[in-house]
Amino acid sequence: MIWENNRIFKLDTPNTSYIFRITPQGQAEHIFYGKRLPSADVDALCMKNNITLGGTVDYTSNYCLDSTLLEYSGIGKGDYRHTPLECRLPDGSFTTDFVYESYEILDKAYENDCGLPFAKGKGQTLRLVFADKKYKDLHLILNYTVFFNCDVIVRNAELHNGTDGQVTIRKFLSAMVDLPEADYSLLTLNGSWAKEAHIQDAPIGYGIHVNDSTVGASSNRHNPAFLIKRIGADERQGEVIGCNLLYSGNHYSAVEKTSQDTLRIAWGINPHCFDWVLQPGEAFVTPQAVMSFSEGGINGFAANMHDFVNAHIIPQRWQRVERPVVLNNWEATFFDFNKQKILTMAKQAAQLGVEMFVLDDGWFGSRNSDRAGLGDWVTNTKKLPGGMGALAKAINEMGLRFGLWFEPECVNPDSDLYRAHPDWAIAIPGRDPSLGRNQLTLDLTRGEVRDYIVDAVDKILCSANIEYVKWDYNRHISDTFGSTLSNQGEFFHRYILGLYEVLRRIFAEKHPHILLESCSSGGNRFDLGMLCFSPQIWTSDDTDARERLDIQRGMYCFYPPSSISCHVSMCPHQQTLRNTPLGARFQVAAFGVLGYELDFGELTPEERRQIKDQILFYKEHRRTFQYGRFSRYFPKPNSRESWQMAGEGKILAAIYNLTYHAIPARDTLRFLAAQSGKRYSVATMEQKQRIGRFGGLIKHVLPVKLKADGAVVRFADRHFAMTDGKECYECSGEALQSGIQLAMQYSGTGYSPDLRISGDWGSTLYVAEEL
Ligand code: DGJ
Repeated sequence: MIWENNRIFKLDTPNTSYIFRITPQGQAEHIFYGKRLPSADVDALCMKNNITLGGTVDYTSNYCLDSTLLEYSGIGKGDYRHTPLECRLPDGSFTTDFVYESYEILDKAYENDCGLPFAKGKGQTLRLVFADKKYKDLHLILNYTVFFNCDVIVRNAELHNGTDGQVTIRKFLSAMVDLPEADYSLLTLNGSWAKEAHIQDAPIGYGIHVNDSTVGASSNRHNPAFLIKRIGADERQGEVIGCNLLYSGNHYSAVEKTSQDTLRIAWGINPHCFDWVLQPGEAFVTPQAVMSFSEGGINGFAANMHDFVNAHIIPQRWQRVERPVVLNNWEATFFDFNKQKILTMAKQAAQLGVEMFVLDDGWFGSRNSDRAGLGDWVTNTKKLPGGMGALAKAINEMGLRFGLWFEPECVNPDSDLYRAHPDWAIAIPGRDPSLGRNQLTLDLTRGEVRDYIVDAVDKILCSANIEYVKWDYNRHISDTFGSTLSNQGEFFHRYILGLYEVLRRIFAEKHPHILLESCSSGGNRFDLGMLCFSPQIWTSDDTDARERLDIQRGMYCFYPPSSISCHVSMCPHQQTLRNTPLGARFQVAAFGVLGYELDFGELTPEERRQIKDQILFYKEHRRTFQYGRFSRYFPKPNSRESWQMAGEGKILAAIYNLTYHAIPARDTLRFLAAQSGKRYSVATMEQKQRIGRFGGLIKHVLPVKLKADGAVVRFADRHFAMTDGKECYECSGEALQSGIQLAMQYSGTGYSPDLRISGDWGSTLYVAEEL
């Protein structure tokens, strides 16, 4: 609920309050953000400014902006902290001085037809209007939409140029907030290709700390999401304020700890190479900045974000819809496939319970490697005789749905598209453009390029029964130049607006029934903007289960499992050469949207049997895995991690070995969402260990001496496996909360079917069901 009283604004959600007031001088002064308060109590809560400090500049007598906690700021009137707004006014100066004019409260979420996606659904919006003191027709509007069901506030800003001169925006962030204390750490998600979303959590020292992207996408280097954690807060408790941005392009967030130990946070579009001209009568609208507070540590904050994404970001049609189990051919075949190979793979997939076959890169034009053909969206009938319609039909007849890969934003110079329209690729006149993965990016700021993409993709989508699209994007932008733009400072943002237009035209307007999975070399564009169009995102090209713990752990802080696409792939793993047990590969991938990315034909009959059981298990618990309440913790820091999903009357709790040592520590597992007063049955998910994993050790447990690489052991390894850790209990919710003692792990002194043989990177999954 949003309250106003005497220019004091209080934005309440069930568990949080956000309070600010308009000062007599006209600025919005931040008062409080934290747990729900019964009243505004501004006199007690506001920061006291009894005297003017030396070395400061007065705004009015005894009122200094630099010492005031603000909701937004500018340049030139004495606030020297980092600014969210920098623009050149008609008189050539950079000084802005916005003072309060009016407010309005609307009983709906914020809307604007500027081309950006916005959070939708039931909400309430406060719109605050400020006017510049000199240019009275230059207006700054701050919007706050409150989404009560998830304790989330979404903000953005607009600048309206009602003057008769030109205003050039050089920096315009979506939101800013000043907090009265600074004893926080800053948690960000960092990485690269195949190493996305690794958590960095570092105490915030004095100065400005920036988390940004300049690659043209939200990037795998620094995801736009970040959170500030009160020192001492952890996964399960403590105050956390988390932020994110509904934007897929260059982002920027800066956190500044001041000399007075206050904290300024501001985030939005990256000012890097940004410069936007507002002619008289024009306006600029920033993307939405998301924030949420929780006293429940990272898990509490993540719960808010997961609910927010599932209810307000994902297209309505896909909300709470169970996502199919896919087989994707990429890691199995790369470019080397033909129709027969695909149909054989699909047939095996159908037999194991897979629901959707996704044909990845290489089906079109002369695309037999990543050096040619990108941009030519015509089915290669040498590889796929009969075309896409016939392939989809054959796959449908096996009982599978069919999905297809595209990468429409890019082009290989060796392609018909490039030969016909070399000027459609981004390049600066007089410079050779740099290639990334042998390709160039198309200039989506141009209308005819967007029309080409929409028509070309639409033609294929209409030619076959395609129910899922993987939309990839495999390079960063370089040689930034829009050949039809008069101001190159607008390029990056216009590119993203162009991308959103294309996605809207193809998927929201023409093919809303298609499930869109976006991808950018894995998670190079894993952000709330893309999630407004694509309910799920390919998280990383690194599918190694141990690596995925680091990647998915980071993603879960901000994004729900239903949006995180996870595949089980072959071992030794493509990127790490690591051999992780098949059970652990599944138990990591199951905490998201499950798929497989391997050739079932290369597995042993025993492995195929296990995969059939995994898929059955996943389908039985899919609603909980995809839409339950996620939580995680480290039962033993650095050596054990647990991920849990609760919902539908059950808790699915996995415990993973991060590293394994001889005589391993005993394991206690707490079920974080167990409810007091309830009784539960607890049982392990049935899993097996390969006989081959024991190598030469096998001779110690058999009466006959067999060679580890001999025919008998090889035969046994293909057709049989050893039972791994069977446990079964009945207990109270209170016992589960306190932690139950798990069976011992393998220690080299013998085998029994109730021993957990996890070893390095192994895991066990427990299902606790309410009785
Ligand atoms: C990068 C993606 O992340 C992969 O999954 C695969 O689709 C390749 N592109 C295909 O080129």
